Amino acid sequence: MHKDIESVLVNEQEIESIVKRLAAEIDRDYADKDWLMVGVLKGSILFMADLMKAMKNDFKIDFVVVSSYADGTESTGRVNVIKDISQSIVGKDILIVEDIIDSGNTLHFLDQYLRAKGAASVNLVTLFDKPDRRVKEVPVKYVGKVIPDAFIVGYGLDYAEKYRTLPYVGILKPEVYS
Ligand code: IMP
Ligand code: MG
Repeated sequence: MHKDIESVLVNEQEIESIVKRLAAEIDRDYADKDWLMVGVLKGSILFMADLMKAMKNDFKIDFVVVSSYADGTESTGRVNVIKDISQSIVGKDILIVEDIIDSGNTLHFLDQYLRAKGAASVNLVTLFDKPDRRVKEVPVKYVGKVIPDAFIVGYGLDYAEKYRTLPYVGILKPEVYS
């Protein structure tokens, strides 16, 4: 285990079974659609890659980069689009892929942003959900795992751009960010 990790919250096996379950649900719901999966970079990268591989349907992908965090562990509430979607989404069915919902600020914003661009439907899949910290209501269709209020890293999730490459998800030692 990495020296900055206090404990492993979700190991590789559990991640794999969560991803398989979500892939089957999305496959079933999107079977006859011509749709677009939109990953929120960078945190969702490993989750999205594994999800895509686990799915049977074919679909198109795109990415957005948004930022609401500085290098801290608290949401600022303001969301900026740093890299926009690279195609017209008018009339398209969209599934946003996110690593984690915390305050809800990011996904609340993205949901409205993509609807305003003319998407036919916008749904959300998140690997992790921290409902205790929700500030803005977000309609999440698919949730991998509900987790307690702790700052987690690994499997794409970072603290100050570190720990994304860990293959498991761990709780960061508080002394690392305090
Ligand atoms: P929200 O806008 O507060 O819901 O935060 C969403 C974003 O904050 C996520 O996409 C993550 O990038 C980041 N985030 C929230 N909680 C954590 C965490 O525990 N570890 C790492 N990143 C987090
Ligand atoms: Mg994120």
